[in-house]
Amino acid sequence: MPRDQFGRQINYLRISLTDHCNLRCLYCMPLRDLQFAPSEELLSADEIEMVARAAAAVGFYKIRLTGGEPLLRPDVVEIVGRIAKIDGITDVGMTTNAILLPPMVEQLVAAGLQRINIHIDTLNPARLKRLMRFGTYERIWAGIESAERAGLHPIKINVVVTRDHNDADVVDLARLTLERDWHVRFIELMPLGGGECAAFSLAQYVPTSETRDRIEKDLGELTPLPASHPSDEARNYRLPAARGVVGFISPVSEPYCGSCNRMRLTADGRFHLCLLNDDEMDVKKALRNGGGVDTVKQILLRAVAHKPTGHRLEEGVSTEIRGMFQIGG
Ligand code: 5AD
Ligand code: SF4
Repeated sequence: MPRDQFGRQINYLRISLTDHCNLRCLYCMPLRDLQFAPSEELLSADEIEMVARAAAAVGFYKIRLTGGEPLLRPDVVEIVGRIAKIDGITDVGMTTNAILLPPMVEQLVAAGLQRINIHIDTLNPARLKRLMRFGTYERIWAGIESAERAGLHPIKINVVVTRDHNDADVVDLARLTLERDWHVRFIELMPLGGGECAAFSLAQYVPTSETRDRIEKDLGELTPLPASHPSDEARNYRLPAARGVVGFISPVSEPYCGSCNRMRLTADGRFHLCLLNDDEMDVKKALRNGGGVDTVKQILLRAVAHKPTGHRLEEGVSTEIRGMFQIGG
């Protein structure tokens, strides 16, 4: 199991399949002047499989496919299938906005997808449209229902809490856990990419303490649950008599860098060493120069060894080069 220089075990790889998205959430993607990686710069299914094999060979067991929006990749089912078959990879998940999920979910599950995180910021259709822009409540909700019907468990719902847009809607979202065995997780806004989304995220930031207070005031006390995994970034709770779980992901007010177990692979073939830093290590060049699993293993181990201790948001340091849609959370 690879450890970084701070003793953290790094065994979870998040793979961004594309930097395109069919939505334009206000805090993630600007409407204009988007620079996408040219398609020939995206890693192919073969190249992604090679990196996943190398990761498994050095002790990674968990892989999550992200984007942008991973379901926009025409070969997403094939990629899931190839990754799920790798010896040592026991956990294959995806983070998606679920718009394209209903017609594909059965195939994804058959290919080996085990877990899904779906992003929806509010249950109010008008406010959802304002925040997630090209998204509609009906389509995302249909996506969530299709995931549940297909047996993906537990359904995790990601909510990015944004001042004046959905900060009052957290109560309705938390209420979902009363009847449903879902995990509804509230995420603090992070400023990434240096542009208008980063400025928006700084300005509209809501601390977890405030979200928690709102939920407890309307729905009752949140009882803490033991962490399901030492690297679970969410602090989990249960509402009185609830079936599901309410979680808080607080990268800004309560950084969890000390228990980070992640490496990230960008869609254009670089290991991104920490979500909130620009440091990267190119793996695509080696792949395209004929490097095999051993070469990729060496680059990955070097990337692990160079992971920064943690983010420095409080000093005003974040990514300048890539936005969230280019890293995948
Ligand atoms: N801050 C926090 N979370 C974000 N996401 C996208 N942009 C931001 C941001 N600026 C979330 C999405 C998705 C996950 C990949 O990251 O909601 O669930
Ligand atoms: Fe797309 Fe997700 Fe970014 Fe929204 S947060 S624009 S759904 S990648």
